[in-house]
Amino acid sequence: MLDTCIRYPYSKFTLRFFQACQVLKITRKKSYILLGVFVLLSVAYTFWSAKHHQALVYYVRNRFINQALYRAPELNAAELNNTHLLLYWTPFFQNVAFDGFGRRPFAKCPVSNCVATNDRRYLRRADAVLFHGADMSVLDLPAERSPRQLYAYYVHESPPQLDMLLGPLNSAFNITLTYRRDSDVHMPYFRLVACNESESLAVTQDRQSELTPPPGVVPPGGPLVAWVVSHCSTDGRREDYVAQLRRYIAVDEFGACSGRPCPRPGALQCYQHLARSHLFYLAFENSLCRDYVTEKFFNALHVGLVPVARGATRAEYEALAPPDSFLHVDDFAGPQELADHLRWLASNGTALARYHRWRSQYRFAPRERWCRLCELMSRHMEPGTAVLPDLHSWWYEGAQCHS
Ligand SMILES: *[C@@H]1O[C@H](CO)[C@@H](O)[C@H](O)[C@H]1NC(C)=O
Ligand SMILES: *[C@@H]1O[C@H](CO)[C@@H](O)[C@H](O)[C@H]1NC(C)=O
Ligand SMILES: *[C@@H]1O[C@H](CO)[C@@H](O)[C@H](O)[C@H]1NC(C)=O
Ligand SMILES: *[C@@H]1O[C@H](CO)[C@@H](O)[C@H](O)[C@H]1NC(C)=O
Repeated sequence: MLDTCIRYPYSKFTLRFFQACQVLKITRKKSYILLGVFVLLSVAYTFWSAKHHQALVYYVRNRFINQALYRAPELNAAELNNTHLLLYWTPFFQNVAFDGFGRRPFAKCPVSNCVATNDRRYLRRADAVLFHGADMSVLDLPAERSPRQLYAYYVHESPPQLDMLLGPLNSAFNITLTYRRDSDVHMPYFRLVACNESESLAVTQDRQSELTPPPGVVPPGGPLVAWVVSHCSTDGRREDYVAQLRRYIAVDEFGACSGRPCPRPGALQCYQHLARSHLFYLAFENSLCRDYVTEKFFNALHVGLVPVARGATRAEYEALAPPDSFLHVDDFAGPQELADHLRWLASNGTALARYHRWRSQYRFAPRERWCRLCELMSRHMEPGTAVLPDLHSWWYEGAQCHS
C-alpha cells in the first residue's frame, strides 16, 4: 500500500487524484508522472487559450453574428458606379457601422467617390479592407486578396493598451490609421483649426452662450483642480504624479478609483459640470507615448477648463492644440512647482485669461476621419508602393512609449 500514490495530499484536487490512483492501483511513481503531465497540459492550455479564445470569440462574432444580423444595406447601382469601395472587415468594438455605410463616411470629403460596407460578399470589389486591431482575429481573414487591394490597420489605443496579435498578418498591411501623426491616415481624437476673421466673431458668440459661467470664473474657495479617472494603476504612473501633487494642492477626484462617481453621467456632461466649479483639469494619459493625446484633453478644452497635459511632449500637444491653451507638466520642475503655478494663476485673472484667449481664434472642426483613406483608395497605387514589412515593430518600437 505504501507504494501506491502518496499519503499527503495538498488540496482537495490532489486528494481526489491520489484516491483515484489508489483505487486504480497506480504506483506512486506513475501517479507523479500523471500529475506532472496534467500540470504541464493545464499551463499550456492557459497560454493557448489566452491567445486564441479572444480570436475565437471575434471569429464567431464577426463571421456569423455580424454578417447575419448586422449587414449593411445592399449597395445600389449608383453607389457602385465609379466608386472606391471600403470594406469594414471587423466591427469597431460593438459598432459594426463605424461612421456609417454607403457614401456617408465620405460625404464631406474633398475626394468623395468612395462607399463603405461591411458586407463580405463585396470582398472582390473592395479597394481597401479595414481591420480594427482590437476586433481582429487571425482565425477570421479574407479568403482571397487581389494585389491592388489595400489592407488598412486601424487602432485608437496606444501599445500598452493593445496587445497586438498579428501573426501571419504582420506584413500584410499597406496603410495604418492611428493616433500617431506618422500614420498614413492620422486619426486624432479631435481637430482644432484656426478661424478666419468672420468665423472668429461667430465662434466667440457661440462659445460664450455655451459656456456658463464663462471660462476661468469659478466660485471662490473650492478646489481648483478636477480629475476623472477610472484606470487606477497605469503604465505611465500618473497616479504617482498625482499623489505627489496632492501634497501641495487639492485634487478633486471622481471616477472608479476614488469611488466618487461624477455628478453627471456621460463624459462630456461630466466635464461640463466640472467646468462650473473648477479651473484646471488633469488630462493625464494612461501611457506616455509619442502623439498619444486622447479625448480627456480635448473634452477639457471644449468645456472651458484649462487642461494640464501629461502624455505626449509639449511639441506634440502643440501640433494638435494652440500653445497657450494648456499647461504641460514638463513646463515645471515638479509637482510642487506646478501646484504653486496653478494657485498663482487662479489668483491672477490676467494671467489666466491668456489660456482662454485661443477660444476666439480656433474652433473644433469635424474630424472627417475617412477623407484621407478615400483619397488613398482613389490613387490606384501600384502593388509594392505601399508596404509595411513589419507592422509589429512599427507599432511597438515606433510608438516611443516610456514610463
Ligand atoms: C455612372 O457614372 C457616370 C459618370 O461618372 C455616368 O455618366 C453614368 O450614367 C453612370 N451610370 C449609372 C448606371 O449610373
Ligand atoms: C471664412 O470661413 C468661412 C467658413 O469656413 C468661409 O465661408 C469664408 O469664405 C472664409 N472667409 C475668408 C475671408 O477666408
Ligand atoms: C498677473 O499676471 C500678469 C500677466 O501675466 C502680470 O503682468 C502681473 O504682474 C501678475 N500680477 C501678479 C500680482 O502677480
Ligand atoms: C499591399 O501589401 C501587400 C502585402 O505586403 C503587397 O503585396 C501589395 O503590393 C501592397 N499593395 C500596394 C498598393 O503597395
